Amino acid sequence: MSSLFPVLVDDAVPEGDGCVRLRLVASNGDDQLPGFEPGAHVDVVTPSGLVRQYSLCGSADDPSAYELCVRREEASRGGSDSLCAQARKGMELQISMPRNAFPLPEAQRYVLVAGGIGITPLLSMIRRLERKGADWQLYYYARDPESAPFGDMLREAPYAQRVRFSSSLRNGYPDALTTPSTGTVIMLCGPDGFMKAVRARAEEAGWPQDAIRTEYFRPSETSIPLTDQPFQVVLARSGQVVTVPSDQSIASALMVAGIDVSLSCEQGMCGACVVPILAGEGEHRDMVLTEEEQEHSIALCCSRSRTPSLTLDM
Ligand code: FES
Repeated sequence: MSSLFPVLVDDAVPEGDGCVRLRLVASNGDDQLPGFEPGAHVDVVTPSGLVRQYSLCGSADDPSAYELCVRREEASRGGSDSLCAQARKGMELQISMPRNAFPLPEAQRYVLVAGGIGITPLLSMIRRLERKGADWQLYYYARDPESAPFGDMLREAPYAQRVRFSSSLRNGYPDALTTPSTGTVIMLCGPDGFMKAVRARAEEAGWPQDAIRTEYFRPSETSIPLTDQPFQVVLARSGQVVTVPSDQSIASALMVAGIDVSLSCEQGMCGACVVPILAGEGEHRDMVLTEEEQEHSIALCCSRSRTPSLTLDM
């Protein structure tokens, strides 16, 4: 973690379903904080003492405050939960200098694709793009679009005409992905399975890899690279066989093959994607199933296979 400095919580308000938006200002009386570019994030030492990364979602052109949006994780280990529960106006927090692993490149046109709380880095981009009069479009996927973080703001001028909401990729991929276009970049942020599925669809349509910019959004303590061997999944009810490549989750491989998958957290935390295993042995990477449950069930969003083939009851 880079060196820290203190900031004051200037405002802490509910944002969408289950999130809290924090406004942070300098604690030394300065009217300015260190500058940042859209896509940047900071480390935050949460009230529980754990360090978490959050994208800066406010305007990079307003140096007077940082804005963060914190989602209370269903299986929080205490970081986001303590921020959501305890952050109050006047509280001092330690944060790092902003770092940017997801910079906004120069382009003629921008297609932004957000999955859930992955909206946060894209929000600072949207504010900048709108200010510059750039050509942009946002596809925002959220379980419940009505209560999505920043949904109310994005339904209003000047953003509304450029924003499309959807509850799931099952309702359709962004139509802008169907035709690769020179001079356009895709900025993509959300859960792993979501991003892999969107990237796979864009590459299938012929978008060059360097036109697709991504930032992975998952708690660092659960980061597990999906670099293992490909394997096959047999769907017992239809007999369909799907290959899961080394860089995709079972859920994304199934979705790319057009198969319906229930997803929610996409991080092995909620159990929405759990299905029974009929044959084969899972390599479990979730945090939701007990050891006993893992003997006969698997979380499609994050787990893999120890055997060349897994037969699932679906
Ligand atoms: S979608 Fe939540 S555990 Fe897989």
